[in-house]
Amino acid sequence: MSAAVEIDYPSTHGAECPYSVYEFWRGEAPVYNIPDRPHIWVVSRYEDVKYVAQHPEVFSSAGSRRRLNGFDFVGDADGAGQTMLESDPPVHSAKRALVFPSIKPGRLRAHEPWIAEIVDRLIDGIADRGECDFVADFSEPLPVEVMMRLFAIPARDRPLLDEWSDLEFSGIPWVSAGERERQLRNANRLGEYLTELALERRESPGDDLVSEVIRAQVERDGDFDLVETRAQLSVVLAGGAATTQHMLGGALLLLLEHPEELERCRRDAARIPRVLEEAMRLESSVQWVPRAVERDTEIAGTSIPAGSYVLLMFGSANRDPAAFDDPARFDPDRPHVQRHLAFGSGPHSCVGAPLARLEGRIAFERLLARLRDLRLVDPGDTPHVPSPSFRGLRRLRIAFEAVPAAG
Ligand code: HEM
Repeated sequence: MSAAVEIDYPSTHGAECPYSVYEFWRGEAPVYNIPDRPHIWVVSRYEDVKYVAQHPEVFSSAGSRRRLNGFDFVGDADGAGQTMLESDPPVHSAKRALVFPSIKPGRLRAHEPWIAEIVDRLIDGIADRGECDFVADFSEPLPVEVMMRLFAIPARDRPLLDEWSDLEFSGIPWVSAGERERQLRNANRLGEYLTELALERRESPGDDLVSEVIRAQVERDGDFDLVETRAQLSVVLAGGAATTQHMLGGALLLLLEHPEELERCRRDAARIPRVLEEAMRLESSVQWVPRAVERDTEIAGTSIPAGSYVLLMFGSANRDPAAFDDPARFDPDRPHVQRHLAFGSGPHSCVGAPLARLEGRIAFERLLARLRDLRLVDPGDTPHVPSPSFRGLRRLRIAFEAVPAAG
């Protein structure tokens, strides 16, 4: 292993390709103390990451992001309203239970037709152009429109959602002061917006996720708790957009780089879910999440004092050769293709995963049926978003032919 690897991650520039750093960590320093941030430790091997994620009594989510970032998803510094993502069992499960019924697998069947309509409309918008930026024209708008429909958000508010599409969940300590200010402004605006939305739905409930969450909270607690409902809504709204966008872009790029797999999926759409899982393993939208260390402990023989933070490197765990044979290879046929940690592990594992998988399946079924001869316009031009914690394409210029409509 080369000692010459420059450890430049987490950072905005290191986000372009952190994989050689991960390889170094896994091989040489699997529990790595960041030199200029001695209270932060990076955990990079699959089994260790999974272990930390599954032991919330030692590795706590409670306020971990808010304390690292200085503010939470709605811009609060005091953490008055804790999101499910920022709380530990047993409090956590009550918070998660407020949103789970609206996006549980059994409910998703009903969403399938209108998600397909959104997908078809987005493809209608590009089909005759022969070329597009897949990110701007498809992968960014699809999850945003899905969220708008679930929350029954009016079309006029779309520009606000676009602003929130790059909310930085965990990486604020690694962005510039100017970017931190922008992120805080956006989080505050998200909080104000969700306050208005929740108050409006409390007055005039409808058939949407916001009204359902409010109903469930009032049924459970007796009184309406704006801060509690707003907190859970904020993490669903913010958590469902960029993550899914990055999954769609990452999967398409891998298919374009592996045209034989793309053709196989075109001939047999039943392969698409496997391809999506393998794409998420290789190009995980959430590269890492933080946890606060509650008591003196040890991970893989390294002592970590109480009061520290650990960063669980899902992106590294998913490329650990101890867990995946030939880990850098795109192989949708690998056994246990869902074994990756791209949706996390333990109590916080992604509550929106079934919805993200559904969006991905419908998107690729329709894209491959309606566009052929898909190719990259400029294979050297696939930059990633400059996020210290998310991974996803900033643009993906593609060319194609529209399949003529039947009849
Ligand atoms: C490909 C798309 C997605 C990826 C890669 C992803 C990834 C993740 C990960 C890694 C976690 C665990 C965080 C932790 O352990 O601290 C998580 C949690 C969460 N995700 Fe997702 N997510 C995706 C899509 C979605 C969608 C579509 C929604 C909303 C409908 C959503 C809502 C949430 C929420 C609310 C949590 C917190 C769960 C809890 O704390 O119990 N995610 N997600």
